[in-house]
Amino acid sequence: MSGRIPRSFIDDLLNRVDIVEVIDSRVPLKKKGREYWACCPFHGEKTPSFSVSPGKQFYHCFGCQKSGNAVGFLMDYDHMEFVEAIESLASSLGIEVPHEAGSGPPRQAKDTLEPMFQVLEKCSSYYQQQLKSSQAAIEYLKNRGISGQTAKTFGIGYAPEGWNNLEGDKKLLVDTGMLILKDHGKPYDRFRHRLMFPICDRRGRTIAFGGRVINPEDNPKYLNSPESALFHKGNEIYGLYEMKTAVTNIDRIYITEGYMDVVALAEHGVQTAVATLGTAINNRQIESLFRVCKTLVFCFDGDAAGKKAAWRSLEECLASLKEGRLARFLFLPEGQDPDSYIGEFGQAAFEQQAEQASTLTQYLFQHLLSECNIKTLEGRAQFLDRLRPYFGQIPLQSLKDQILAEVEQRLGQKIDGRMLRLLGEDKPSRSAPTRMPEQHWTPTRLAINLLLKKPALANATGTHHELADSDIPGVDLLLKILDRIHDEPEISTQNLLDRFRGDEHEPHLYKLAMMEPPIEDDDSLERMFSDCLQRLQKQYIDHRQKQLITKLQSGEALSEAEKLEHKKLFTNQP
Ligand code: UTP
Ligand code: MN
Repeated sequence: MSGRIPRSFIDDLLNRVDIVEVIDSRVPLKKKGREYWACCPFHGEKTPSFSVSPGKQFYHCFGCQKSGNAVGFLMDYDHMEFVEAIESLASSLGIEVPHEAGSGPPRQAKDTLEPMFQVLEKCSSYYQQQLKSSQAAIEYLKNRGISGQTAKTFGIGYAPEGWNNLEGDKKLLVDTGMLILKDHGKPYDRFRHRLMFPICDRRGRTIAFGGRVINPEDNPKYLNSPESALFHKGNEIYGLYEMKTAVTNIDRIYITEGYMDVVALAEHGVQTAVATLGTAINNRQIESLFRVCKTLVFCFDGDAAGKKAAWRSLEECLASLKEGRLARFLFLPEGQDPDSYIGEFGQAAFEQQAEQASTLTQYLFQHLLSECNIKTLEGRAQFLDRLRPYFGQIPLQSLKDQILAEVEQRLGQKIDGRMLRLLGEDKPSRSAPTRMPEQHWTPTRLAINLLLKKPALANATGTHHELADSDIPGVDLLLKILDRIHDEPEISTQNLLDRFRGDEHEPHLYKLAMMEPPIEDDDSLERMFSDCLQRLQKQYIDHRQKQLITKLQSGEALSEAEKLEHKKLFTNQP
């Protein structure tokens, strides 16, 4: 098997391909102003709201909000896997894709990430070895009905008690999150007396762990590896590799909320379950699951948190509903999760539940109708208004028609022009483009937008980490971007955007990149940028001053550090 594609190659490729050419050969584009436009290939529409920016080398649809670079476009439009998309772009430029040495020894040290993979592999074998001699862990698994075979399939292990069990290169162990390094102290094991679930990447390499307590008094119940160079929670899907290895014809994927759900379902013969890692599922994860199989069954615990997660999943799902893809939503009875349900009622009953699970349309209507009283005129308008943003994202006309039919039936009236307008279907003007973004500028947004225009702006400014202590919305993303550029001062816009591939902030970032600030000339960029930072600084100072004053007024004493800060804040006012 071939190894990783070097980051530098991907950067270079993104700097060389022209996204306009890539898209234009598949979806004919028309130039209007600085951008190119077309009717969006990802959702049905009659007037173009899909734009491609030659300057920033990405596309964005103002209708369905889909966006991405040339690689992302090929993945979504041509259903390619990441590596395939890279290879296709490279061959269009007539260049070879270099692969770093793969899994076989001995040249693999070339890859800087390889030592991290190795360290995690060693930890995983160690934990699995330890499981064999831990009575408590074996007992625990037994009580939960997990057989030795299933434990082995998922590489389940045991991290023993004690603070210094892991051996090996300290730096690698810290970098992979296995050891915790506190200020000046000695590093110590992150996972102690826990059942260990290795998290694998798409190629089956361990990239992180989830650790469950064995003593019910310990907490947190699950401890996960922190984000690292190998592990980005928002990209990974627990159980995906194991599923693909075990099953060749996957006809349905169950998406659950927990490690134990995946493992318990497998134990009971349902081998096509996966889970997100304690976070809400995002569209990228849904897309990669849909590429494996066209039917997804989202399973939710029968509690309030489950309901909330379900609605989030529906929202993340809509833009991916292309031909043949189906999403169902399974709500388990109150107090049950897939693990407990299949344990109590068995495989057949679980699969039966899935057969009867709500379709996306059913769930969409049920949810929106619970919020509006459609017996009144206002309630009906409100209902259509609520439906509009979801309706607009659906790429498939047949599904839209099905929803319109359902609207007719539920409201007991024929769809007319006014209703279509309320649903955003009947656009008043035929000239393109019709939908422009709402340009609402804040200093944070403007700063991010300017950095995406010209990353080098960051190099004249500090890290501004103090701003993290403010309550300014979006400021953490701004700081992340600043850090990125400080790490790679010469990074291009397209490479900077690509660093956020799969990140929870990615869609927001593209949206911000798409906005057009009122710029007079190139020189004014610097002035505008430093202006933004000054305003943020001022907001931060105001915020801290208020906090300290509140503290003083409540009679609490300030710490030494706070006293110093207080003095500084009140004398150095800009
Ligand atoms: P649940 O609390 O639903 O646990 O968390 P569970 O999967 O049913 O686990 P068991 O049956 O009690 O063993 C669902 C998922 O949320 C994340 C984990 O990924 C877990 O699988 N989680 C939960 C955490 O990351 N930390 C926690 O403390 C709890
Ligand atoms: Mn559970």
